[in-house]
Amino acid sequence: MITLQKGPVDIGGITLHNHLILAAGVLGTTGASLGRMLGSGAGGVVTKSIGPEPKEGHPGPCLIPLNGGLLNAMGLPNPSREYIDEITHLRDDPVIISIFGGTPQEFGEVASWFADTAVGFELNLSCPHAEGYGAAIGADPAIVRACTEEVAAYGLPTWVKLTPNVTDIGAIGRAAEEGGASAIVAVNTVRGMRISIDLRRPVLGNRFGGISGPMIFPIALRCVYDLYNACSLPIIGCGGIGSAEDVIEMMMAGASAVQIGSAVYDDITIFEQIADSLYGDDGLPADEIVGCAHA
Ligand SMILES: Cc1cc2nc3c(=O)[nH]c(=O)nc-3n(C[C@H](O)[C@H](O)[C@H](O)COP(=O)(O)O)c2cc1C
Repeated sequence: MITLQKGPVDIGGITLHNHLILAAGVLGTTGASLGRMLGSGAGGVVTKSIGPEPKEGHPGPCLIPLNGGLLNAMGLPNPSREYIDEITHLRDDPVIISIFGGTPQEFGEVASWFADTAVGFELNLSCPHAEGYGAAIGADPAIVRACTEEVAAYGLPTWVKLTPNVTDIGAIGRAAEEGGASAIVAVNTVRGMRISIDLRRPVLGNRFGGISGPMIFPIALRCVYDLYNACSLPIIGCGGIGSAEDVIEMMMAGASAVQIGSAVYDDITIFEQIADSLYGDDGLPADEIVGCAHA
């Protein structure tokens, strides 16, 4: 297997300990769990998405296992501005603040709370199960551009996380680039649902939700491949990554780094496990493989 050079990497204006980042919303609700992930091999961590008002989230069930993945409709539960207290002790670490809002102004308002402490922002324009938020506005290039401009104006690195639930993800990526994004994260969950045959009703409290985990890896890979052709920003691959081989494959499609979410549910030591096989003493610089599958 190909191995990569060890050492810090600069991705979209943020210096990470390695290429492996904790994805938004997975163990990102407390500063303690973010710190634990950084301590166990994550090169950087993204927080739970924070919005303009505190939100309780959708009624349960909110998360169910699938054959090869997870289906969730958490509904963006978050403490809003109070979250600042969770991360003040991590101000020297690569902690990226995930933001959601319903308008460009709401994105800007949340960014303003963290502008003095954050190393960078990630805009959630992609959650598939929160009315008026996420993918509901992230499928419109004009809104994506306006939200990005609003947050990028704070002068911090601004990553934009895209939804796979669109016909042309390249057009959305280009809108983020025009708005001043410093990297694109691809992708959030794939919209889906399950129905209980016994109860004759949808299993999730919210009826539908987002699929994550290994079953979406080929979808995420294709999105990264499309974006590599459409945009010139660094791309961070996300969706179903659970091994060093998956990381290399994502990089060959065009990703400069990756995020890992669902795999953490199965194995809390996943960052160490992947890093052990991904990095070697005679490893290649990542640049040598990023996008090589386009040749
Ligand atoms: C329980 C759960 C909660 C999530 N919450 C968020 C969130 O708050 N913000 C966000 O941008 N993505 C959220 N996501 C999406 C993940 O960050 C990631 O994009 C997705 O799960 C695909 O990656 P994976 O297959 O490695 O999990 C969530 C995913 C799960 C499973």
